[in-house]
Amino acid sequence: MHLSRLAMSVGQSATLKLNELANNLKAEGKAVIHLGGGEPEEKIPQGAYDASLKKLETRRVRYTATSGIPALKNEIAAYTGKYYGLQPAAKNIVVSGGAKQSIYNFLLAVVDPGSEVVFPAPYWVSYPEMVKLAYGTPVVVRPEPGRLLPDIKDMVRHITSNTRAVMLNSPNNPSGMIYPEDFVRELVEICEDRGVYLMMDDIYNRLVFDGASAPNAFTMSKRPLDESLIVSINGVSKTFSMTGFRIGWSVASEAVTQAMTKIQAQVTSCPSALSQAAAAGALAEKGTFVEDLRAQLERKRDLLAVELNKLKKVKFTLPQGTFYSFPDFSAYEKDSEKLSKLLVDKALVVTVPGREFGLDGHLRISYCGAEKDIVEGVARIRKVLDA
Ligand SMILES: Cc1ncc(COP(=O)(O)O)c(C=O)c1O
Repeated sequence: MHLSRLAMSVGQSATLKLNELANNLKAEGKAVIHLGGGEPEEKIPQGAYDASLKKLETRRVRYTATSGIPALKNEIAAYTGKYYGLQPAAKNIVVSGGAKQSIYNFLLAVVDPGSEVVFPAPYWVSYPEMVKLAYGTPVVVRPEPGRLLPDIKDMVRHITSNTRAVMLNSPNNPSGMIYPEDFVRELVEICEDRGVYLMMDDIYNRLVFDGASAPNAFTMSKRPLDESLIVSINGVSKTFSMTGFRIGWSVASEAVTQAMTKIQAQVTSCPSALSQAAAAGALAEKGTFVEDLRAQLERKRDLLAVELNKLKKVKFTLPQGTFYSFPDFSAYEKDSEKLSKLLVDKALVVTVPGREFGLDGHLRISYCGAEKDIVEGVARIRKVLDA
């Protein structure tokens, strides 16, 4: 049976595969602890619930404008004004079926076959595969051993005349690191000098700890939005615990936005009308949903830090945001897939091998689940590794 070269070249999503594994083990009645998850356990905000019900009650759930309904675009513009100090117009926004689709639309809009897209490791698992799906070439910049932040000089060295875009996810999945202000500023400067796009994946930008905030690339730019090479990606999945609604968005120049809209129109017409209504409801809500989630994740991060530090040979860097950590287990086992498998087999604990994020020797351990699972999960890991 013939399958396309593209289909053959793309890897399976490791994290979705692990979710399946955890669910299968649970279905077999095994007391598995899933520390590999990628979504908060909160119920959705009341505003999202009310708005989706209201929309459903009309019994008119039809196609919308390709780039999103005005009510949601208005909320996104207000959100961008509040958290980025930048007021985009409707012509600068595309709403998509999750930030994942926004990122892919962006890549399809700017990448030519063979052009390079540069990003640092550790990176979100989907980046290399998405670049390949856009017929681009992923270029990974790795940090020095033992570090999570690549040298900015190395980043700059990899940005060449073949580079079409740089992608940065801050705070970062899997490390929870916020890229330092100087690092982002240099990237903005070099990208603007060389005419390279800079995609900022800001999906976790409000889930930050200890009073920190993630540097905002737009404030570092010399260009107005319609001449900007910066494209910001965000969405409701993580911050509003609405992963199942599949709503993300991009803020970009009119030219890039138009190209992304054209592509989306041919691929999916528009994101779900019901989900768009729900997302508008979540963004419009004046309550403390996001702050409550953020504070709760900070407490869980602190709990995880206490538990992980009990392990004899783990090197743990405190995450500054997200709900992931990326401890270095290489003193136990350098092969992260082998280690992750061992922990499923011997401890019934699911983690994600660091190799999937471009850095072996690490495991991604999430702290978006229940506190008792964090404590019990790490205790089980300790029992296997420190016995
Ligand atoms: C860094 C990063 N970007 C984008 C996404 C995609 O989010 P969405 O659910 O909106 O597609 C995720 C989800 O795990 C993520 O971790």
